[in-house]
Amino acid sequence: MKILGISGSLRRESYNTKLLRAAEELLPAEVEFELYDGLKAIPPYDEEDDGEDAPESVTALREAIAEADGILIATPEYNSSVPGHLKNSLDWVSRPLATNTLRNKPVVVVGASTGAFGAVWAQAELRKVLAAIGARVVDAEVAVGHAPTRFDDSGRLVDENLLSDLEETVEALTDEVRERSLFALTNIRS
Ligand SMILES: Cc1cc2nc3c(=O)[nH]c(=O)nc-3n(C[C@H](O)[C@H](O)[C@H](O)COP(=O)(O)O)c2cc1C
Repeated sequence: MKILGISGSLRRESYNTKLLRAAEELLPAEVEFELYDGLKAIPPYDEEDDGEDAPESVTALREAIAEADGILIATPEYNSSVPGHLKNSLDWVSRPLATNTLRNKPVVVVGASTGAFGAVWAQAELRKVLAAIGARVVDAEVAVGHAPTRFDDSGRLVDENLLSDLEETVEALTDEVRERSLFALTNIRS
């Protein structure tokens, strides 16, 4: 099983990226994890640039999603919503709508913010967008509020309650992936 982690923050010291690293450590050893690092190269969506000759950065993201069995997105909240570049990247991935690589893909959304609420509004909006794209959005949430107090100096998540929430969430994602592969297998055989 392969899980692709996508951070909605581009900065090196991002709490959301640290949250994904914490999730990686909670995954069973047999699960492969890749942290996607190509989001910054994705241009603003332009329908005229889409299709066969879509930008390489876009094709790379579409393919990375296609190759993964499940997706884990950690999003910050920008002005009570999803960061523009993350939404923009998902707009690219959403096309062509019927065959986009997120369709039926199990996805979990988590989030961290420096404010009190842990990006809950951004997470909710992101789930709505992902559902519109056709992803299988797993019903789980981790909200890391006051992020600077939840990680130690080496960037490790140290809050026991959040670690436990994150473990449950990661498990919900891997369970969903297993269920989907079982379902696919049953369908092939029948
Ligand atoms: C443009 C911008 C808008 C922000 N808006 C919000 C917000 O609406 N709610 C919130 O809790 N934090 C907000 N913040 C603070 C972020 O939670 C904080 O920068 C956080 O560290 C971003 O996540 P990162 O550490 O993964 O980069 C905003 C930050 C920026 C740069």
